[in-house]
Amino acid sequence: MEHTERKKRIFSGIQPSGDLTLGSYMGAIKNWVALQDEYDCLYCIVDMHAITVRQVPADLRRRSLEQLAQYIACGLDPQKNIMFIQSHVPAHAELSWVLGCYTQFGELSRMTQFKQKSQQHADNITSGLFTYPVLMAADILLYQADLVPVGADQKQHVELCRDIAQRFNGIYGDVFTLPEPFIPKLGARVMSLAAPENKMSKSDPDGCVFLMDSPDDIRRKFKRAVTDCETAVKFDKENKPGVSNLLTIYSAATGKTIEEAEAEFAGQGYGVFKPAVGDAVIELLRPIREEAERLIKDKAYLQGIYAEGAERAAAVAHRTVRKVYKKIGFVER
Ligand code: TYM
Repeated sequence: MEHTERKKRIFSGIQPSGDLTLGSYMGAIKNWVALQDEYDCLYCIVDMHAITVRQVPADLRRRSLEQLAQYIACGLDPQKNIMFIQSHVPAHAELSWVLGCYTQFGELSRMTQFKQKSQQHADNITSGLFTYPVLMAADILLYQADLVPVGADQKQHVELCRDIAQRFNGIYGDVFTLPEPFIPKLGARVMSLAAPENKMSKSDPDGCVFLMDSPDDIRRKFKRAVTDCETAVKFDKENKPGVSNLLTIYSAATGKTIEEAEAEFAGQGYGVFKPAVGDAVIELLRPIREEAERLIKDKAYLQGIYAEGAERAAAVAHRTVRKVYKKIGFVER
């Protein structure tokens, strides 16, 4: 894996702090699948990030394994990609400490996600929640990733990661590759079905579609989706956030353009449109759910994948940590 000859590299991850959602699928995983042939990819289950808010241990453990099964069910090939669990590779914590010493308090204070989450969890604003983006920078920089496919809400964190890397390189020479965020044109910010002015998020189960939801649940959530008091199926984010979100979801699920979708539902009311979006999502998720249900039963298979993934990831990560330690003046063991 030399710098000059290697394929370009991707790193991305999702927190097992809740079940995977249609938002994380459309914002991130869909692109992971699309990019897996062209790039050398590492896809992580970031359990260390998940504990920045309190988790029930048994649920965290179960969801971490289910998430791996779901990654594979979404189409990520375990032969092509390194898939692993963050806490299995100690280098993440090691580099995170170092990078924290090159990150300003002010920079972290400006992070939108920190501001939001510290409001949501006002009784438990830990230093882990504050330094979360530093751990994320470590995730990315450890593997010298060129590209980080994420939804729009993570762009600010990837930009901070670049700033930290640039600062470090400015002092010590070319240590880190500068990563670029990769954000999809469609589905970068899937909104809540219940409150379309908010991002679809696992903490809002009514407005959120989970990858493992049954067809009945999905149908019900789309039938109840909040729209507006007009009737036209038109994309207008400002005035028709609900309908625009549904059009985006429909278009991402079917591969049709927004214009094609508008034409398809022209003259038909929301009573036809909303269930049709639900049906498209049911068909998109059906094979994923069925495959994930099958894989989750095969614990030995999953264990084989995450164990090998950790070993391969650790080899790359360890090299970066050694280089960093040397640069900053730590004595070699
Ligand atoms: P997380 O776990 O909140 O979300 C995982 C991924 O899904 C995207 N996403 C969405 N995209 C579109 N619409 C939505 N409603 C939506 N909800 C979530 C997120 O943008 C993200 O890409 N900090 C990260 C996890 C992380 C990471 C990393 C990512 C840790 N280390 C290193 C990339 C590289 C997070 O909290 O994502």
